[in-house]
Amino acid sequence: MSKYTDYGTPAKVADKTITLEIDGTQITVPEGTSIMHAAMVGGVTVPKLCATDSLEPYGSCRLCLVEVEGRRGFPASCTTPVAEGIKVKTQTPKLAELRKGVMELYISDHPLDCLTCATNGDCELQDMAGAVGLREVRYGYDGENHLKSEKDTSNPYFQFDPSKCIVCSRCVRACEEVQGTFALTIQGRGFDSKVASGTENFLESECVSCGACVQACPTATLIEKSVVQHGVPEHSVTTTCAYCGVGCSFDAEMKGEQVVRMVPSKNGGANHGHSCVKGRFAWGYATHKDRITTPMIRKSIHDAWTEVSWDEAINYAASEIKRIQAKYGTESIGGITSSRCTNEEVYVTQKLIRAVFGTNNVDTCARVCHSPTGYGLKQTLGESAGTQTFDSEMHSDVIFVMGANPTDGHPVFGSQMKRRLRQGAKLIVADPRQIDLVSSPHIKADYHLKLRPGTNVALIAAMSHVIVTEGLVNEAFVKERCEWDSFQVWRDFSAKQENSPEALSETLGVPAEDIRAAARLYATGGNAAIYYGLGVTEHSQGSTTVMGIANLAMATANVGREGVGVNPLRGQNNVQGSCDMGSMPHEFPGYRHVSDDATRALFESAWGRPLSKEPGLRIPNMLDQALAGKFKALYCVGEDIVQSDPNTQHVTHALEKMECVIVQDLFLNETAMYAHVFFPGASFLEKSGTFTNAERRVSPVRRVMTPKNGFEDWEVTAKLSSALGYPMHYNHASDILDEIAKLTPTFKGISFKKLDELGSVQWPCDDENPAGTPTMHIDEFVRGKGKFFITEYVPTTEKVNAKYPLILTTGRILSQYNVGAQTRRTDNVAWHPEDIIEIHPHDAEDRGINDGDWVGIASRAGETVLRAKITERVQPGVVYTTFHHPESGANVITTENSDWATNCPEFKVTAVQLTKVTQLSDWQREYKQFSETQIDFAKNPRTEAKV
Ligand code: SF4
Ligand code: SF4
Ligand code: SF4
Ligand code: FES
Repeated sequence: MSKYTDYGTPAKVADKTITLEIDGTQITVPEGTSIMHAAMVGGVTVPKLCATDSLEPYGSCRLCLVEVEGRRGFPASCTTPVAEGIKVKTQTPKLAELRKGVMELYISDHPLDCLTCATNGDCELQDMAGAVGLREVRYGYDGENHLKSEKDTSNPYFQFDPSKCIVCSRCVRACEEVQGTFALTIQGRGFDSKVASGTENFLESECVSCGACVQACPTATLIEKSVVQHGVPEHSVTTTCAYCGVGCSFDAEMKGEQVVRMVPSKNGGANHGHSCVKGRFAWGYATHKDRITTPMIRKSIHDAWTEVSWDEAINYAASEIKRIQAKYGTESIGGITSSRCTNEEVYVTQKLIRAVFGTNNVDTCARVCHSPTGYGLKQTLGESAGTQTFDSEMHSDVIFVMGANPTDGHPVFGSQMKRRLRQGAKLIVADPRQIDLVSSPHIKADYHLKLRPGTNVALIAAMSHVIVTEGLVNEAFVKERCEWDSFQVWRDFSAKQENSPEALSETLGVPAEDIRAAARLYATGGNAAIYYGLGVTEHSQGSTTVMGIANLAMATANVGREGVGVNPLRGQNNVQGSCDMGSMPHEFPGYRHVSDDATRALFESAWGRPLSKEPGLRIPNMLDQALAGKFKALYCVGEDIVQSDPNTQHVTHALEKMECVIVQDLFLNETAMYAHVFFPGASFLEKSGTFTNAERRVSPVRRVMTPKNGFEDWEVTAKLSSALGYPMHYNHASDILDEIAKLTPTFKGISFKKLDELGSVQWPCDDENPAGTPTMHIDEFVRGKGKFFITEYVPTTEKVNAKYPLILTTGRILSQYNVGAQTRRTDNVAWHPEDIIEIHPHDAEDRGINDGDWVGIASRAGETVLRAKITERVQPGVVYTTFHHPESGANVITTENSDWATNCPEFKVTAVQLTKVTQLSDWQREYKQFSETQIDFAKNPRTEAKV
């Protein structure tokens, strides 16, 4: 039996086994197994409708009745547990009669439109009618029935047709057990019972459109609109979601080259058959009319684009790179990869930059999100990655969520977390804002530490103080596993009175007794796991907080086994992978420093080119150097630095100073508006490769359709390389992965073949761990002994004052994804058509701001205008917005402050003032004009060469 049931709940594996007889066959199963499941184990199929292997048994449809020798009646096999020695019959004339009667009742109130029904051939009701041999229905439609019930088509992606509902409650249970939203109920009794969402329709309800109910529905009652449109799929290909760092596995169900639906794969190691609205439904951007599929070039960003052939575009880009390097030197160019790229794309891009451009000027968007994770965890534990699997949390007794919003940012993992919390795990949330986890159906955080933005290090210091001074350190663990000297220094530092909760309470804005209680719970509540996100990393002390978190975990022995650990929730699908693949200016793949002679020799020998031992420029340094006139060309693959990096004006001015900006993307993104060469990109549905999720899980991305632009992205990079005189001899992404495995110890055992066999694998995967490593640091830390670091709280220089009295912090929302380039081009805009600014009622009242008003937001960096939402989710003095729409200009107001170790921007703390306004900001008006011109340039390109 597998260790986990569907959706990652630890299977109830009893020590005791039971032997029973089913239809004459002896079957042995663990105690507690249902008769239905035992029958399934023995290869006997019992008819069923309300039961499904992903949900708890319910026992409502009465189709699975069986006979048990010596027992009266006909128990439902789905809810009746096995017992020693019982003899069960699943097929008798009486059972056949009863089942037929049940089905007859269902069918008598069901439209008989099977031939024209969208799920004809894929409907459990139809299957069961066949299975029980129902050939005629004695009851007509004359009596009361539900056949005229009105359809609810309000949800953009699925419809609800109550006339087809058999009230089996699978949808209600899926929403509760799997998703944890509790949006549906069964209303009424008997004939009047029906599925209800508690509001007018699905769109208005609490539903978050995860689709679990649609997947669970055995009839066409809840059905994807895409299936209604295209019909039942013909074949499927398993691939990996291209959105967040959960890395859900999906079966892309296809009709030819048309995706009919994305069904989360039950074998998915990260998602176990669940998904969120983005992965399951928001894939329409791949065929959106805004896609650019022909390469374009131009001399100046003020010119219209000229459409050219691939050869012309590649040769032009190569000639520009050569010209610029000849004129301004080798270091005048560089490249940026995206966490949306596959591992293979990132690898070939950094190889191109190091081996062909001859510089280490390569960076990735992890710079602006999780670079402090890479730094902090490497320093303390020895590896720049999270320590656990997602499933590990099902063994946690205490869950500490810091600066993360899993139900919005990592929804499938958030649902799993809710499941564990409903089972009784304790919850500590440290967040300035009331995220959904703080209070949602059947969940209430034990402690919500509403700290002020920018004070994470102070909170960790105060918790450490409690743990050290109240004797809660696990000294045996520390002595055995950690550097004792570093621990002693940390212990003495933590014990200082200035680090006590009482001393730091005012700074934090959190009562000292809450900090003490939360620290005690974390240290003594059993298995305690920390999950953190960008609310930890995107600060001037991001790396310090990461190290502080690792200190806490080591001091309390909460690392090195299931249920515990230090778990960064990576934002994008391949943040982990883009860092693993050496897309950092100081590291080769596998986090090996460019100055290390042996590593450099290894890559020089493999790549046949001399490599620089000087670390290259980080993104902010590239931009600074551009403004200084020294950095002249950029190859930007899949990344939109204009929208995602801080201080937008600084970024755009830097791009304007460059002589050749090459952008490779699906759409004319904001950065492409400053580009001279546009290489059309391929969507995840059009390429092969791998993504590595937040738990180090490498999952396959499989091509399900032909690239609309003609090439997979790695092929374009390889073509550019050839044009620069360095052919890359790969035939398929698998060849690239093989090269990665050869040169990167943690990837040594990973290949497409292995991924075909295992589905996915968590690195390190090598000779010792051929099936990968779910939990790290079990017997010893990767660096040998764990190292404690002093994490002194240094307040940010971004201070509030009379002019800028509020702190702006940012985050994301469930329906949108990062810069929104993908999700804005899907029906997800139904939920979040624009970014809004959340403001506490007191702050709003002080400023005369009403809900829905336009509000000007001014910071030391710039000004923008957003619509106000008045809510107590934020505390007084703090305002909050998302950054999914370019016209919002969220990063026009964020400053250039950054993490001391990694330059990760301090997105989470910007001092601002809010005022009621009636028109857009100057920046927004200029942006509107500029972007309209640029879109026009792309929509009406020249066809003859004009450069
Ligand atoms: S909508 Fe589907 S899953 Fe829900 S009760 Fe009706 S038939 Fe069952
Ligand atoms: S889509 Fe998800 S959240 Fe919405 S009702 Fe169905 S299960 Fe619940
Ligand atoms: S966006 Fe994240 S949680 Fe949602 S389906 Fe994709 S990988 Fe899973
Ligand atoms: S499947 Fe057992 S009662 Fe419905």
